[in-house]
Amino acid sequence: VEFTVEQTTRPTSAEQRAALMADPKFGRVFTDHMAVIRYKDGQGWYDAKIIPRQPLQIDPASTVLHYGQEIFEGLKAYRGKDGAVSLFRPEANAARFVASARRLSMAELPEELFLGAIKALLKVDRDWVPAEAEKSLYLRPFMISNEVFLGVKRANEYLFIVLASPVGGYFSGNGSIPVWVSEHYTRAAIGGTGEAKCGGNYASSLLPQQEASDNGCSQVLFLDAKERRFIDEMGGMNVMFVRKDGSVVTPPLGGTILRGITRDSILKLGRHMGLTMVEEPLAIEDVFKAAATGDITEAFACGTAAVISPIGEFRRKAGSVAFGDGKTAGPVTMKLRNALCGLQRGEEADPFGWVHPV
Ligand code: PLP
Ligand code: COI
Repeated sequence: VEFTVEQTTRPTSAEQRAALMADPKFGRVFTDHMAVIRYKDGQGWYDAKIIPRQPLQIDPASTVLHYGQEIFEGLKAYRGKDGAVSLFRPEANAARFVASARRLSMAELPEELFLGAIKALLKVDRDWVPAEAEKSLYLRPFMISNEVFLGVKRANEYLFIVLASPVGGYFSGNGSIPVWVSEHYTRAAIGGTGEAKCGGNYASSLLPQQEASDNGCSQVLFLDAKERRFIDEMGGMNVMFVRKDGSVVTPPLGGTILRGITRDSILKLGRHMGLTMVEEPLAIEDVFKAAATGDITEAFACGTAAVISPIGEFRRKAGSVAFGDGKTAGPVTMKLRNALCGLQRGEEADPFGWVHPV
């Protein structure tokens, strides 16, 4: 597919861009352009283009505004020391986007179009990929239904867009994050949309996330919806633990948690490094006990935005428990983080074929 390109007539100057990218934090700075593709039943995907970033015009009766048919992805473009730009496992994001579309009964965007849109956007906004090791260009592909109709049914029109945003770390500060255990609100039930990356999952996470924040925590940890006993994942990232014997444990995929690409990469990379990587259910009670006795020594969050962020402590109504000193990242966490980041930036060998130069 050829993307038509309409360059902005008011490009951000190099000086302005440098100022915006000096300390971009997460998700507030955007590049000059965006990719757009439309879909209509009977016509398929059409009108693929790169245009100046601009507001959308949407009919107030557009289905997405009423019934929330929206899915998204998140991946990053990295700049290596040699200046080369690459993506990390973008095919995995393309495949998950199709799976999310299927669950939300939306049109399925072919992988070539997903990747093509990102590449076409990077061609015009390449200068926005930061060079510093802790920064990257976060890409946000998303799709909304856009039929003018108030009946509740699968829509017949969709709009796919890719935004790009230079980012630093997701969390403010570099220390370990405190995590709130949500004992009342859950995220996803069996048979629900937990495995899909749809906006609705995040909408329902905001109240428990606020509860976390009110309790001084940076993220919320969700438990299974049936027994509220087993750890699922966090509001916007998966979770892993390190046992005293050096093995790394994470909850298994069971349909209620997101199939994190970072999670999968860490499992494979860890095994490649000779670590024991285990997927098994973790009861919250056992984790509190094991952290207190020192049987679990480290915990960390993992995801595209989070990268690998050490968790300092878990808090719940009845009290809290810390990992290590509650402040410093543990050695296994750091080892995995360095290995993953080195690979993503093209500084380490890539035995998996994950790095995708663009
Ligand atoms: N879980 C949730 C709820 C997320 O939003 C994310 C972030 O995308 C992840 C896990 C981690 O997924 P990934 O590693 O593919 O970014
Ligand atoms: C991502 O890591 O891409 C996410 O979607 C998580 C969110 C916290 C931004």
